[in-house]
Amino acid sequence: MRAAYYERKGPAPKVLVLGELPDPQPAPGEVRVKLRFSGINPTDTKLRGGWDGNMEMPFPRVIPHQDGAGVVDAVGPGVPQSRLGERVWVYEAQRGRAFGTAAEYVAIPSENAVALPEGASFETGACLGIAGMTAHRCLFRDGGIQGQTVLVAGGAGAVGHAAIQLAKWGGARVASTVSRPEQEKLAREAGADLVVNRKTEDAAARIKAFTRGLGLDRVVEVAFEANLELDRAVLKANGVISTYSSGPPESAPRIPFTAIMRQGISVHFILVYVMPREAHQLAARDLNAAIEAGRYRPHIAGIFKLDETAKAHEAQESSGTVGKLLVGV
Ligand SMILES: NC(=O)c1ccc[n+]([C@@H]2O[C@H](COP(=O)([O-])OP(=O)(O)OC[C@H]3O[C@@H](n4cnc5c(N)ncnc54)[C@H](OP(=O)(O)O)[C@@H]3O)[C@@H](O)[C@H]2O)c1
Repeated sequence: MRAAYYERKGPAPKVLVLGELPDPQPAPGEVRVKLRFSGINPTDTKLRGGWDGNMEMPFPRVIPHQDGAGVVDAVGPGVPQSRLGERVWVYEAQRGRAFGTAAEYVAIPSENAVALPEGASFETGACLGIAGMTAHRCLFRDGGIQGQTVLVAGGAGAVGHAAIQLAKWGGARVASTVSRPEQEKLAREAGADLVVNRKTEDAAARIKAFTRGLGLDRVVEVAFEANLELDRAVLKANGVISTYSSGPPESAPRIPFTAIMRQGISVHFILVYVMPREAHQLAARDLNAAIEAGRYRPHIAGIFKLDETAKAHEAQESSGTVGKLLVGV
């Protein structure tokens, strides 16, 4: 099969190559997916670039990318034959494994290939895994959010955009911050009831007014350290911050313990890879339900060819694009 892969970490154009590799065969409990699209996330480029300073390869050769979508074309022992031909979206294909979705085929545990709702495109399917599941966990970690008021920080980011749509689908009122006009448009189209430019407006004042002075129930936070003061200012007593990112790996936020304790604020540090199995399954079910209800539409910024995977990584790293980047296989 054709695949993009690297055998050492470093800048994308230096280490990512396209080549022919043996077709993977599904092991017991696995399916093989003939991929149509591979979805890129910051986790893929960070791992390849040695973001945390660790330049050691986890495997001698890595095919990057966790997300994807395609058709099941082979099943391993123990997997029902009825899965053959199923249109699926794929999550965490490369978690703890060498070979992800930047290839014509991927072999993965059967449960990591989720039936794609009828009418949903493969492009949509390739956007769901990391962003959708992270957003879902941040929102629903403590149960339903019907009637709650939620702030999604960075609502035009991949996770933020997913969080706005899922929060609306879950029955919440949603405020969101952005920093540019094209981001504002995207957050509004996703359904945010209030969109605030965090750079040009008084975000705290506008969000407080949005909650009629009552405070927010929950924040889905992309920049924990940078926004902790804002989040504290706009949360109600016993509110929740669900955060999935906090800037560079050395970020070590100072926690004002007494102030946070007095507000009874809970902080959930969310990492999609360590979500319990049931939480992954719940997220998959709800993402499909939101798609079927026409309430979840990922925004795709660009689609690259497999031999342009290095370019796609550079685009992901540039922070210049707004929306998901895919590789067509
Ligand atoms: N823990 C997990 O499981 C998990 C899962 C997925 C992603 N992540 C991490 O989360 C981060 C975002 O991922 P993504 O895929 O959503 O990336 P993305 O599509 O690039 O979006 C990042 C968004 O964050 C916004 N942002 C940056 N600083 C901000 C601030 N101080 N306040 C509000 N918004 C801010 C950016 O907007 P501006 O243009 O205004 O900066 C951008 O819209 C990455 O670091 C990724 O590795 C973690």
